Amino acid sequence: MLVSAKEMLTKAKAGKYAVGQFNINNLEWTKAILLTAQEQNSPVILGVSEGAGKYMCGYKTVADMVKAMIDELGITVPVALHLDHGSYEGAKKCIAAGFSSVMFDGSHYPIEENIEKTKELVGICNELGLSLEAEVGSIGGEEDGVVGAGECADPNECKMIADLGVTMLAAGIGNIHGKYPENWAGLSFDTLDAIQQLTGDMPLVLHGGTGIPADMIQKAISLGVSKINVNTECQLSFAEATRKYIEEGKDLQGKGFDPRKLLAPGFEAIKATVKEKMELFGSVGKA
Ligand code: 13P
Repeated sequence: MLVSAKEMLTKAKAGKYAVGQFNINNLEWTKAILLTAQEQNSPVILGVSEGAGKYMCGYKTVADMVKAMIDELGITVPVALHLDHGSYEGAKKCIAAGFSSVMFDGSHYPIEENIEKTKELVGICNELGLSLEAEVGSIGGEEDGVVGAGECADPNECKMIADLGVTMLAAGIGNIHGKYPENWAGLSFDTLDAIQQLTGDMPLVLHGGTGIPADMIQKAISLGVSKINVNTECQLSFAEATRKYIEEGKDLQGKGFDPRKLLAPGFEAIKATVKEKMELFGSVGKA
């Protein structure tokens, strides 16, 4: 069922667990994540970056593929199709293409401009019943060639954006996209605590879910995080399983070169990673 992320995240915040956003790159990724969500009876959010949207031949291709797959696979758990780190133009395109949720990342604009653009999108999304994620304070690391410095968000600015009526709010708390460096200082729980005190019931979003230790994930959830984004970790498990298959020479045995065989270990690896995260985030059985 393709739905907005509002209800699933409101329930998650009240129930003190988090719903995973898993980024998709192609058909195998999408199928693996949808099937795992159904098996685990968990709500799920499919994330699409602007780069991945382009790679998959545009947002309409993605939206139509996801809707058809939900139908053909008989997926009954709540699924949100969400633009990840969208530009203002990208958000509008995804709304037109049939996404059920968008993120407008205005964190690189001065706060006044972030507020102005976010406000306009709140109006559009509310009218259409879509969920909207906004961001304050950039998230470190690289994504689609954009490198963020990874600053902690100003809790007062978070409150200003939350008050615009967004569905969920991503705030930088020392988190980074991709692998964490050896000398990473960890998440700033003081910042998270201050943000949650000011924003109350607003579901908070933790980006950069790859490689955050389990105890920090649990603490973040206890302080109001109800959506956690994971991308790199699925890519790493897919690559590792595919490498193993080829290094063992399995593509050279029989019809092992058939893409349906060649991509199968990577597909299973994504499923295992998604299952592990759903267990850690506490969303299993919460559909
Ligand atoms: P990772 O690639 O670090 O898991 O981050 C994913 C993310 O935050 C997508 O917005």
